Amino acid sequence: MCSSKIFGIIAISILQVASYISAVSASQPDPSVSQPFFSSVSTPKGLCNGTTGPAVSHAGFIGLKGDTPSKPKRSFFWFFEAETDSRNAPIILTMGGGPGASGMLNALLFQAPCIMSATGMTPFEHRWTEQFNLVALDHPIGVGYSYGTRVNSSSDAALDVYNFLQKFFKIYPQLSKNKVILSDGSYGGTYLAHIGTAIHNGNIALKSGKGERGDIHINLDSIVLTNPFAISHFKAIKPYFDHETCSMYRCAIHQVHNATTCQGLYPILPLCLESIHLAYEIPTIQNRVTAADICLGQLSSGSTNGILLEDIRKNCEDPDIFVCYPEYLWADKFFNDPNTKREMNIPDGVEFTGLGSKVSEEFYSAGDLIQPHQSLYGPLLDSGIRLLYFVGAQDANCAWPGILSSLKLLKSKFQQRFLNAHDVLWPSQNSTVRQIGDRAGGLTFILAQEAGHTAGQDQPELAKFIIEHWINQMPFF
Ligand SMILES: *[C@@H]1O[C@H](CO)[C@@H](O)[C@H](O)[C@H]1NC(C)=O
Ligand SMILES: *[C@@H]1O[C@H](CO)[C@@H](O)[C@H](O)[C@H]1NC(C)=O
Ligand SMILES: *[C@@H]1O[C@H](CO)[C@@H](O)[C@H](O)[C@H]1NC(C)=O
Ligand SMILES: *[C@@H]1O[C@H](CO)[C@@H](O)[C@H](O)[C@H]1NC(C)=O
Repeated sequence: MCSSKIFGIIAISILQVASYISAVSASQPDPSVSQPFFSSVSTPKGLCNGTTGPAVSHAGFIGLKGDTPSKPKRSFFWFFEAETDSRNAPIILTMGGGPGASGMLNALLFQAPCIMSATGMTPFEHRWTEQFNLVALDHPIGVGYSYGTRVNSSSDAALDVYNFLQKFFKIYPQLSKNKVILSDGSYGGTYLAHIGTAIHNGNIALKSGKGERGDIHINLDSIVLTNPFAISHFKAIKPYFDHETCSMYRCAIHQVHNATTCQGLYPILPLCLESIHLAYEIPTIQNRVTAADICLGQLSSGSTNGILLEDIRKNCEDPDIFVCYPEYLWADKFFNDPNTKREMNIPDGVEFTGLGSKVSEEFYSAGDLIQPHQSLYGPLLDSGIRLLYFVGAQDANCAWPGILSSLKLLKSKFQQRFLNAHDVLWPSQNSTVRQIGDRAGGLTFILAQEAGHTAGQDQPELAKFIIEHWINQMPFF
């Protein structure tokens, strides 16, 4: 998330790591693999019915590097096969934000063949799986069902995803040549910068003969972000805060805070700037955490008098995040249901946490929230990996002006053209598109007026249209 609202209040779920280590079954070496690893995959029945019948899906765990039966480190995934030509269909790898949110949430709110509701799973018309394979991943270890040894940085977590993908393609070798698209929102802006980089670096290492034995080239096509966390690039800070800040969004563009609250926040702005500057110059954990405390804590703590920060058209203000976001509770209920656990072959003692407080706290304490992650997208763009932003304009948490500003400052072969480009009106969708490159573009920023922080969930039909045109490289209009 962009504000720290979440961090203080999610200490609800407790990961019981110690209790289930002994309960996990022994590893099952796959004979086709040079280095055996733990995997356990089920084909759940009856859990997810789509509009065209039961979804074909596979759910399971993959042991990551360092995983042993006594010291597990296992990632949970739920893989929904594309309805048509799954063998050749691009693979969308989807994760959650947070840090600490399950990767199942986005999938089961606007991407999968079925979606969650207060009353259970329902078939979903605007699924992304009509044409694409969808792999929802509980990332990093410690969220959702992924369990065992945790990491506390997006860069280490990204190496885990690289390792996960290598092993996923050992289990599904027929898919290993297919295009891979990374999709996430919110804190995923930081996650995917590192994950894209880990994959890209892995591919480079393989090409020069330095990759790990048995690893393969991963056909990373593009990265799709909705309302990503974007305080990043040092040079992005000044314009970010001078002209287009979250505070500007909350105080000037919109009146999310009232005038009194804004007056109270303004003096914190220069302190925040300074602290980020220091954290970038001297990136000690202490400096990074201090900057997070000031910028994401104090600066983001102003009362909104009931306006929901993630969608300023809505009212909801409650210190308990689950009041405004019951989706996490729906996920906890669904995944911890004995029937789900049985169908998914979940080991005894492994509990699902939609929002993992430990992960959130540990990433925060390790300084992960303040880092120049945005700049990692530059080399990816330059190497031909396309980048799409689908941004809801009603979000005051990861507000669009900051996202656009960070993109303007992103150094890549597209920078000059992006700066000179115009936002083109997309009238039928009440959106604008700023695009560099042909067809769906190589760097594309879509601003949707009728969506908030959860842009895909808010406009699922538009999200499906966008993802299909993006991946198939067709003009949006
Ligand atoms: C899905 O459909 C099957 C029958 O085809 C049914 O038994 C099952 O309960 C349904 N599941 C859900 C979640 O609706
Ligand atoms: C602004 O909001 C604060 C916090 O809710 C409230 O205490 C204050 O009375 C409000 N001020 C005005 C002028 O509405
Ligand atoms: C983060 O993880 C590393 C490696 O496990 C550990 O050495 C370090 O102490 C952790 N940092 C914090 C702040 O917990
Ligand atoms: C576009 O969306 C905004 C925000 O919801 C709304 O105020 C405006 O009326 C919409 N415009 C059109 C043309 O529908």
